[in-house]
Amino acid sequence: MQNDSGYKLPDGFLWGSAVAAHQLEGAWDVDGKGVSIADVMLAGENHVSRKVTDTVLADGNYPNHRGIDFYHTYAQDFDLFKELGMNAFRTSIAWTRIFPNGDEDEPNEAGLAFYDQMIDAMIEHGLEPVITLSHFEMPLHLVKEYGGWRNRKVIDFFVKYAKTVIARYGDRVKYWLTFNEINNQTSWMNPHHLLQDSGLKDYPEEQAQELMYLASHHELVASALVTKVAHAINPDLEVGCMIAMNPVYPATSNPKDIMMSQRAMQTRYYWGDVHALGEYPTWLLKYFEQKNFNIDITEEDKKILKENTVDFVSFSYYMSWTVSDPENPLYEYDEEKNHGDNPFLAQSDWGWQIDPVGIRYAINWMWDRWHKKMIVVENGFGAFDKLEDGAIHDPYRIDYFKNHIKSVEEAIVLDGLPVFGYMPWSGIDIISASTGEMKKRYGFVYVDLDDFGEGSGKRYKKDSFAWYQNVIKTNGAEL
Ligand code: BG6
Repeated sequence: MQNDSGYKLPDGFLWGSAVAAHQLEGAWDVDGKGVSIADVMLAGENHVSRKVTDTVLADGNYPNHRGIDFYHTYAQDFDLFKELGMNAFRTSIAWTRIFPNGDEDEPNEAGLAFYDQMIDAMIEHGLEPVITLSHFEMPLHLVKEYGGWRNRKVIDFFVKYAKTVIARYGDRVKYWLTFNEINNQTSWMNPHHLLQDSGLKDYPEEQAQELMYLASHHELVASALVTKVAHAINPDLEVGCMIAMNPVYPATSNPKDIMMSQRAMQTRYYWGDVHALGEYPTWLLKYFEQKNFNIDITEEDKKILKENTVDFVSFSYYMSWTVSDPENPLYEYDEEKNHGDNPFLAQSDWGWQIDPVGIRYAINWMWDRWHKKMIVVENGFGAFDKLEDGAIHDPYRIDYFKNHIKSVEEAIVLDGLPVFGYMPWSGIDIISASTGEMKKRYGFVYVDLDDFGEGSGKRYKKDSFAWYQNVIKTNGAEL
């Protein structure tokens, strides 16, 4: 393996890491915080979905209640990030700290004050804040009382919340992301994704797909309105969408697989089309007609979408997929069924295919389609790490990053594409979103806690810490 890429990235490139409030803050019921959907998710496991309870049960194992106690430790954790050399940090604001139920008239001042202090601490540590407004954690009350994002009223609640925090922190936070991995709900067959992305619960199964498109439409309008609000507060603020980018390759050269892969990409990434181009793709509007879906796209909505496209596209990249379904004449993409293993790629212990070339492919694909500058706001390797005599040897993680960063650099340097930052998931070990495990670790910093919250909570630097430190120091030239 080549050690040095030799590619130096532009000055001012953002080198950071990324997390989400509910996966690390803990303090789930402190200082007036309300109950979010993440607070009713029990721990799961690899291939065992996280069960969702109706309310918080006294004896349930809810890992997000604990996180890694970042609510109280962020200043010390930022010391480590500063030592690492990071100049940026992505986290989310927990909506439920600001509007505990989502529909209050006035925000919760204690929640606002917490993020004031945290954002100040980021800046003191030389970390440019990149803030996600909604990362899998909407108020549970909005799910139960309003039906989640299927209800148009939720647009107003979200815009009010966004306006409150952008007005409060806009003097210190330039980069804002609206909905984390909004396109995960392509897997509408999987209730976990519908709840996480759109707060959809207790719906007739046969309506799941239509509700997903309806809820997504409301989110897309909300995202455009937030972009408008941010620009009105300060035209220098930048708002981006956040797309889960998993390229879907054709499994074979059978033209039907090629067509299926095209349709898979169109299906997974229409959220990007609407965000970046301001309109729905033609094929999808036809599809709504064919399915008799009533998506309620008003003329006013169309205007809002067209006039308020995003300033940039942010994306996560972990893996690629392949698709093959030659017996599917309508080319309807079923994300839960159509995937096969790619014989050219290895997989992580959680079955995620490792494909560094795919991130360069994806950056090229997005640029050709959307013509927006881009930022990598998640990329990383979930693995079992072993703490031995205070050390964690994680060459597998270094390998993963080395190959992926090199590929991003090729997209920037060889292909000339505008990528302005790289923020790997998750800097420090946190709770896994899909499984609720602690043992699926992504950080450069190890946190001594297990799946049940047992352990000292102490932080240790992994081998990858020093490696990433040098990458940043050389602005990507030494990998
Ligand atoms: C992305 C999410 O899907 O991937 C994160 O935005 C998540 O919240 C990350 O943690 C890694 O996934 P997981 O399920 O391994 O934690």
